[in-house]
Amino acid sequence: MDQTLLEPATSAAAALVRGDLVGLPTETVYGLGADATNAEAVAKIFAAKGRPHFNPLISHVASLEAAEALGVFSPLARKLAEAFWPGPLSLVVPRQPDCIVCDLACAGLDTIALRVPAHPLMQHVLRAFGKPVAAPSANVSGRPSPTIAAHVREEFGDKLALVLDGGPSAVGLESAVVAVSGDQATLLRLGGLSREALEAVAGPLLSPDASAKAAPASPGMVLRHYAPRAPVRLNASSAEATEVMIAFGPGYEGAEFNLSPSGDLTEAAAQLFAMLRAADALNPTAIVITPIPETGLGEAIADRLARAAERSC
Ligand code: TXA
Ligand code: MG
Repeated sequence: MDQTLLEPATSAAAALVRGDLVGLPTETVYGLGADATNAEAVAKIFAAKGRPHFNPLISHVASLEAAEALGVFSPLARKLAEAFWPGPLSLVVPRQPDCIVCDLACAGLDTIALRVPAHPLMQHVLRAFGKPVAAPSANVSGRPSPTIAAHVREEFGDKLALVLDGGPSAVGLESAVVAVSGDQATLLRLGGLSREALEAVAGPLLSPDASAKAAPASPGMVLRHYAPRAPVRLNASSAEATEVMIAFGPGYEGAEFNLSPSGDLTEAAAQLFAMLRAADALNPTAIVITPIPETGLGEAIADRLARAAERSC
């Protein structure tokens, strides 16, 4: 136990016990946390985010052992958990019959999304609280996920009992969501782990369409997401005077923002949401993004940007 983390973690755990909402740091993005076993507390998450009740939440726990009390792990699910936990992977597995997470957190489904986050402060909170914490990304529905504590305060103001500051999120993209049904794994959401890294452990991943019968698609993925207020234009090579450019890689000296001047996709992922927010704050007529390779984490970056560019639904 790190003594300097003990005091903030204890305050957050006390707020969770009271049924309050807490802003919590994780290595992917900041979460809006509540006691997953308390339906009234979980209802506050849906209300604060303006989130549709059919969209289930991820329950966060401190260890695989704690996760196995809530969900049923097939050998493949356990293999994935052992390879990537703690870390940026959420596993959707069948709920245990005596799972203590409330139905509302799982949107009434017979499956549950579970994650063991790596952030040391979040680990301390989970161990101090001793129960699962339901936490979606700490943004109003449809907005970019927060990657620093100040963005969480920007989204929710004084609706939160407490926002724990754990510094900038190291990964910067939400967790990859993988549903495991027996020996079949379906990639429901691209995220802070590349498809290649997941497939090195699990073998080829199914896509939600191909396995619609075996595993329902992630309800959250049907929604427009991650969008700043300004329209977003992708694969651009230049910006008008009233537009703001977010570039990637070398050769864009005039750009206001660059996700990674050296062309590093891990750095770009960590910067993405904060730069979308900073660009949006300049009130441009559009945010233009230069091409980004769709390999490794670039695939998840492209997914988030495509959603940010989607204006119509
Ligand atoms: O990195 C993350 O995953 C962050 C941090 C805070 O942990 N959390 C996060 O939560 O991004 P949220 O609620 O924004 O996204 C959770 C995704 C949604 O797309 C939701 O539909 C899906 O997981 N999900 C949750 N439970 C599910 C289930 N039982 N079946 C299918 N999809 C599920
Ligand atoms: Mg989210």
